[in-house]
Amino acid sequence: MKDRTVAGGGRLEGEVRVPGDKSVSHRALILGALAVGESAIEGLSSGADVASTRTCLEALGVEISGEAPSLRVRGRGLGGLKAPSGPLDAGNSGTTMRLLSGVLAGHPFSSRFVGDESLTRRPMKRVAEPLRAMGATVALSGDDTPPVVIAGGALRGIEYALPMASAQVKSAVLLAGLHATGETTVIEPAATRDHTERMLTAFGVPVRMAGLRASVTGGSPLKATKVLIPGDPSSAAFWVVAATLAAGSELAVRGVGANPTRTGYLAVLARMGADIHREPARGEGGEEIEDLIVSSSDLSGVSVSAGEVPGLIDEVPILALAAALASGESRFHGLGELRHKESDRLKGIASLLTSFGAEARIENDDLIVTGVKTLQAAKVDSLGDHRLAMTGYIAGFLASGESAVMGASCAEISYPTFYDDFIARRA
Ligand code: S3P
Repeated sequence: MKDRTVAGGGRLEGEVRVPGDKSVSHRALILGALAVGESAIEGLSSGADVASTRTCLEALGVEISGEAPSLRVRGRGLGGLKAPSGPLDAGNSGTTMRLLSGVLAGHPFSSRFVGDESLTRRPMKRVAEPLRAMGATVALSGDDTPPVVIAGGALRGIEYALPMASAQVKSAVLLAGLHATGETTVIEPAATRDHTERMLTAFGVPVRMAGLRASVTGGSPLKATKVLIPGDPSSAAFWVVAATLAAGSELAVRGVGANPTRTGYLAVLARMGADIHREPARGEGGEEIEDLIVSSSDLSGVSVSAGEVPGLIDEVPILALAAALASGESRFHGLGELRHKESDRLKGIASLLTSFGAEARIENDDLIVTGVKTLQAAKVDSLGDHRLAMTGYIAGFLASGESAVMGASCAEISYPTFYDDFIARRA
C-alpha cells in the first residue's frame, strides 16, 4: 500500500461525479449471474471490492464482458452456477463473501471462500447461522471467521429475525431463499439499505415487504434486465463534508443515489447547519438519483441516535470529522457494528481525530467528539481501511501544515480516482 501526503488549506470548486454505488454494483453482478439472459449494466463501481465479486462469479462459470462502468453479464439461471476449481477470493470485500455465501448455499457443490487479512478477521457466523438453519453445511474457522466452506444443496425457506441490523446478512438470506422451497422471510431490527429487495423486483422477482419484513418465494426466475447504477452516496459524503468544512467552497456532486436508506448522513449534516441543496435528477431503474450542491458553512455539534446509524453506517468516519470541526459536542450512539468493518473503525476514527488534535472518546458503543477551531497536521495510518484513508486525507486538507496518510492507496477499494479527483478540484 502507498502513502500520501496532503498540504492543508484551500477550498473545493466545480463539479464531480463519484463512482457507481458499491452495494448496488455487487447486487447487479450477482443478480445478473442468476438471471436468464444477458443483463447490461451501466455505472458499475470501478472499485476493487466489486472487481472481487466479478472474479468470484467468473470462477463460478459466469461470462462477464466489458469493464466498469459498462459491462454485460450472461446469466446462468437460478441454481446454474458451476462448481469452482479452486478457492474463491473475496479480497477485502465482506459484501462479496456474505452475499455469495447465500447464493452458494443453494448450489449442490462445495465452495471455499478466502479473503485478505482484514476480511479474514471479520465475523461470518452471522451468515452461517441462518444458512445452516435453511439446510446448508457451513464451516468457519475456530473464531467464526473465514475461510468459509459451504456445501450447499436442498434448502428450505425460513423466517429469520436478524440479531443485528445488517443488509449483508439480510441479503444473504434472501438470496438463499431464492434457491429454497417455499417462502423465506427476514425481519430486521432496524431498516437497512434495501438495494437487494429493489433489484430483485427489477429482475422480475416479487418481494413482499411490510415494515421491517421482506419475503421471497423460492424458485421465482430472474429475467435479465438493464441496470443503471447511481453514484455512491458513501463516496459523495467525503466531498459533501470536505466542501462544507473548507471555507469558500462551492461544489456540485452530480448523479448521486438518493435511496432514503442511504441518505441519513445528509439529514445529520442538515441538523448541524450544513448548506446542501438536494436537486432530484433523472433516475432510471429501481433507485432515485440527485445532485448535491454544497456551499461551505459553519457547523454545530449534533446527536445521532442508535436508530439512525444503519442509515449512515459507512459515513460515520467522515461525519465524525465534521463533528471535530463543529462547535460544541457531538454524540454518535450505538456504533457497535463499526467494530466489525474493514478495521475496528470505531477505534480507528477516535484515534485519527485525536491525532489531528480534536477530542474524541469512546464510551461503550458511543463516540463523543468535541469540536476544535482548527486541526493540526498529523501522520495517520489508514489501518488498511478505505474509509479511514479518505477521512484522514480530508482531515489533512483541512488542517494547517502538511499531513500524511500511511496506506492511503486502499481508497481503491471503493474509489480508485479519489485523490486525483480531489487534487483537480482544489482551488
Ligand atoms: C453493505 C452493508 C453494510 C455496509 C457495507 C455494505 C451492503 O454492511 O457497511 O459497506 O452492501 O449490504 P453490514 O451489512 O455489515 O452492516
